[in-house]
Amino acid sequence: MRRVHSLALSLLSAASVFAAPTMAESPGTTAPTEAPAFRELGTSRGVMIGTAIVVEEMTNPTSAALVAREFACITAGNDMKPDALQRVKGKFTFDRADRYVAFAEAHNMKVIGHTLLWHSQAPRWLFEDEHGKPLSREEALKNLRDHIHGVLTHFKGRIHGWDVVNEAIADDPNRFLRDTPALRAIGEDYIVKAFEFAREADPDVELYYNDYNIDADYKRPKAIKLIQQLKDAGVKLDGIGIQGHWMLGHPSAADIDRGLSELATLGYPLMITELDIDPLPRRRGGGADVTAIEREGLDLYKDGFPPEMQQKLGDRYREVFTVMLKYPQITRITFWGFNDGGTWLNDFPVRGRTNHPMPWDRQFKPKPARDAIVDALRTATSAPAATQPAAGTAK
Ligand code: XIL
Repeated sequence: MRRVHSLALSLLSAASVFAAPTMAESPGTTAPTEAPAFRELGTSRGVMIGTAIVVEEMTNPTSAALVAREFACITAGNDMKPDALQRVKGKFTFDRADRYVAFAEAHNMKVIGHTLLWHSQAPRWLFEDEHGKPLSREEALKNLRDHIHGVLTHFKGRIHGWDVVNEAIADDPNRFLRDTPALRAIGEDYIVKAFEFAREADPDVELYYNDYNIDADYKRPKAIKLIQQLKDAGVKLDGIGIQGHWMLGHPSAADIDRGLSELATLGYPLMITELDIDPLPRRRGGGADVTAIEREGLDLYKDGFPPEMQQKLGDRYREVFTVMLKYPQITRITFWGFNDGGTWLNDFPVRGRTNHPMPWDRQFKPKPARDAIVDALRTATSAPAATQPAAGTAK
């Protein structure tokens, strides 16, 4: 999501975080909607529907009301990442992050914490010295533990679940884990350690492993290996987060289905944590490797998203929802954003494009994609429970 928002939005005061109607008031006071909210439709099917947002989307009354009406949970797009919470060693900064929790509590929504450990948007001091050399294992583990304890203690009882480790698996076919400062300083067990620190800091909060493309054939075996390692190490994992940064034509519904069905056999709850469908071309295909920036790319819909593309996007959302909703193991579906003005895909993988991946447009008006998702939520059928392994049985 872009940090660039209009001056008008940024000038709105922090107090207006509470501007959106509460759920109790909303039926009578918000503008009429054409369809029931995602949150109610999701709840009736046993799936929490959420969105990732930025502060400006809580302070703008129109967008705040929309988020409060439509979604059962929120994730902070950036403000709970390590560089936001402890940029300077020992100095925690919770002001911005606290606003998400206050907003969610005011509107009866849950908060998903994102993320305790990631190779991106993390301060260097966590795992490297001033020359970029890995810290000693002991020092790195202490920094990791202090960060996780500091954050979990602050939010105790107010956050539903945390993406403890984000994107640890390598895309490189010759590697298992991504080469990161944490891996270099601590070794392969840094993931287990992160979960252990989180569990000791808060025994009640849910803890997830989150990654992109783990539904895909090239990466899924590594994800299964990692989940097995966590299980063997005695980690109580509460869910596997599949980001779901997909494209209009890729991966196919059959590939997503195959990936989900195999991950479902692991016996853990599954969550689609960062859903968006990119309708713009990319050189390198889907996923979300934040380092895979592309210098150039066609900006095909700068002047608007034509009706036939609206239709295609809607059909694609209907297709992926139909697949996802087959799986009772999927307990949450979170969109990474909700409106075209706020999506990070305006800047990824090509900077400064005018993208149109979300169910709401730049004016916060519902698009045909929104109707298609509503339709899928109403009509898609789940596989009979008997043919599906019960969620969480392997815990
Ligand atoms: C993105 C944010 O939305 C952007 O604002 C930021 O510039 C980069 O990160 N996978 C993740 C998220 O796990 O944290 C990323 O969020 C999107 C890809």
